[in-house]
Amino acid sequence: MNKTLLTGVKPTGNPHIGNLFGAILPMINLINQNDGQSFVFIANIHALNGVKDAEFLRDKTYEVAATFLTFGLDPTKTIFYRQSDISEIFEITSLIMNFTPKGLMNRAHAYKAILERDGNDDNVNMGLYTYPVLMTADILAMNADIVPVGLDQKQHIEIARDIANAFNSVYKKDILKLPEEFIQYQDSILGLDGRKMSKSYGNTIELFASEEDTRKKIMKIPTDSLLPADKKTDDSTLYKLMKMFKVEDDYLQNYLAGGIGYGDAKKKLAETVNTYLLPYREKYKILISDKAKIDEILNTGAVEARKIASSTLYNMKKTLGL
Ligand code: TRP
Repeated sequence: MNKTLLTGVKPTGNPHIGNLFGAILPMINLINQNDGQSFVFIANIHALNGVKDAEFLRDKTYEVAATFLTFGLDPTKTIFYRQSDISEIFEITSLIMNFTPKGLMNRAHAYKAILERDGNDDNVNMGLYTYPVLMTADILAMNADIVPVGLDQKQHIEIARDIANAFNSVYKKDILKLPEEFIQYQDSILGLDGRKMSKSYGNTIELFASEEDTRKKIMKIPTDSLLPADKKTDDSTLYKLMKMFKVEDDYLQNYLAGGIGYGDAKKKLAETVNTYLLPYREKYKILISDKAKIDEILNTGAVEARKIASSTLYNMKKTLGL
């Protein structure tokens, strides 16, 4: 593949296995297979519509950066930056506001959900309401062809296309590139309680928690009252998680046949998870302890990103007569 890839990650929450298997690793794989330019950025301004805590936002930004670096994002090959460092994005946002029908924003899922919940939109801030416009500016600024996202973001990419198309149509020029979504992963990752792994369900396996905390959480996986010697089925959460973490086949067969009890199987799963995460936890610890290094990486990325964004902005302004 030889495409311009771009994706943004909001700095909120503690990264967990669902994020890793569902988004981070597929994204890094895709980038590694791409011969074109890739951009990954931390969408800290997007986080602002909800987060109003400076220390939290600062910490989470470093944590997201360190997480991506831990799992193999190579900043010498990918342009990696903070959204807030690219002031051109906010200028582009202002320009494209004029090509964005209010009705388009009224149909955005996140906004509609709040409207339906509250019966009015009095408490919706304009950051949330115009979230898709900022996201459009993120994408158009870098001339992205492909935007890897989860299914929940598909509508935002469609909106980006609509806005780019409106701009191009009015001025009868192909100034803005129309992006396409790339839905990487539709199956959700199983959480500890059998539902989709999600922070909001409290059923996550966090990537950078301690071994002890990880073990404790895994020991609480709900199971039925079968005895160790009873035959077990392969449709339980415990079994599926063992499979997901690639516990050896021999062990799984023995478990199903009644050779292993739930308690021991959970211990085995906890060990497997901790062993898998150990090298990453060590790498992460080193990275997160050197914030100056992270700043340097993100600042270098910002310089590169701004070159491209300022060229897009220049072309837009010229087209508009500004
Ligand atoms: N809205 C995305 C999310 O919540 C994050 C994001 C912001 C993004 N800007 C983007 C993703 C641009 C892709 C492209 O996950």
